[in-house]
Amino acid sequence: MADFIGAVDQGTTSTRFMVFDHDGREVARHQLEHEQLLPRAGWVEHNPLEIWDRTQTVVASALAGAGLSTSDLAAIGVTNQRETAMVWDRRTGRPFYNAIVWQDTRTAAIARALDADGRGDVVREKAGLPPATYFSGAKVQWMLENVDGLRAAAERGDAIFGTPDTWVVWNLTGGTDGGLHVTDVTNASRTMLMDLTTLDWDEELLGFFGIPRAMLPQIRPSSHAQAYGSTAGRRGTAPVPVTGVLGDQQAATVGQVCFEVGEAKNTYGTGNFLLLNTGEELVRSEHGLLTTVAYQLGDSAPVYALEGSIAVTGSAVQWLRDQLGIISGASEVERLAAQVEDTGGVYFVPAFSGLFAPYWRSDARGAIVGLSRFNTNAHLARATLEAICYQSRDVAEAMVADSGVELTTLKVDGGVTANRLCMQLQADILGVPVSRPVVAETTALGAAYAAGLAVGFWESTEQLRANWAEDERWEPTWSEEQRRDGYAGWRKAVQRTLDWVE
Ligand code: G3P
Repeated sequence: MADFIGAVDQGTTSTRFMVFDHDGREVARHQLEHEQLLPRAGWVEHNPLEIWDRTQTVVASALAGAGLSTSDLAAIGVTNQRETAMVWDRRTGRPFYNAIVWQDTRTAAIARALDADGRGDVVREKAGLPPATYFSGAKVQWMLENVDGLRAAAERGDAIFGTPDTWVVWNLTGGTDGGLHVTDVTNASRTMLMDLTTLDWDEELLGFFGIPRAMLPQIRPSSHAQAYGSTAGRRGTAPVPVTGVLGDQQAATVGQVCFEVGEAKNTYGTGNFLLLNTGEELVRSEHGLLTTVAYQLGDSAPVYALEGSIAVTGSAVQWLRDQLGIISGASEVERLAAQVEDTGGVYFVPAFSGLFAPYWRSDARGAIVGLSRFNTNAHLARATLEAICYQSRDVAEAMVADSGVELTTLKVDGGVTANRLCMQLQADILGVPVSRPVVAETTALGAAYAAGLAVGFWESTEQLRANWAEDERWEPTWSEEQRRDGYAGWRKAVQRTLDWVE
């Protein structure tokens, strides 16, 4: 067997390809950003063709940079930004419209209508999701209603839908030349169209959104030797089996080896996503969390998770850079925030896509509160880091309330975890230690694990556990009083973003 496993991570702001060895160590990587298209307030789009172009480039460059070829790969896994909806023509490969990104709020009226007439409760029960702009179903409905000729093409079976995993796998496996139209259970569980118990598309849910079944990919396990075919072997490269597909947050759960009931991780990317493994039991949230599929390995039963999704965390730092221009790079936020001892009474609630868990208010909008003339850019930078941590506390509290499991340590990963001040604030705000593993790229690693398990590159999840090692740990330093008062202020600030629209 070849010595390595590759993983495509098609994320919200960039696409990367990484190669791992048997010990889960990185041996190659290349990453490229793609354009964020913001045509109107609240709208966020990507160009699927640009994403596929970037995917091909990062695979080729990562391999070339490490002196490897596709024949060195035993298998490839694919992981992706979830919920982002794409529709393309299966005969030509041309998208009918740009990808509508998970952060996009144009479907607020569709989501509201579901709750106005009781269909929302059916969505909650069957799909485990609250009606919200976040998920794919309403985005596809919007395209069917607004893109000329799309409905007819969908009914003919020419227009097909997919989240980015489906798009990447369809293209990797041949595209118009026989590409597979498939997705995995974790991605399907984010559409509002799949029944969590049958793991199949549900006719009633499809009816709510007016989506023809012919548009939908086949749903397959997250890790399977035959489910996703092989790469097409273009330009003389050796075909590689594609044997793992899962949404990025589920992949990070696997990469953090959260295989036991009660194990959780928090990933800090564009947004934050805290997932708690609930095993084969489907736990329904009473505190604003999602019920989702964590993974399905081979033909075994699916493992479920409770998820606290936060729309805007790392992207709030990008906003400081791109829209306000108060920092020139994301890494500068730590230096700026460290210039002051606290936020000087400022709270920043970055509700740019409404508020996700546990509030689920698509109509909320951001606020900076508590300002006085004393405040500077440094206070705002520090308030941005605190906002990342307070939002994580909101979902951690909901998680404890739903599951009854007390949080003793928070396992973290993702780009923002390089910010040591932010991780210290997270420990202070939560009141529990925060632990970061050596391989912080757990998303790509998890996709590689899923792919490698399917082909016997790794024998068991127990073997993967041995690859996990702690890199750094932050202990809480705030007094109880400081923690309590700080959080009370945050809750008041959040209330302002809700009052604004009421
Ligand atoms: O649900 C959205 C999530 O999958 C996006 O993750 O890492 O691309 O921000 P990321």
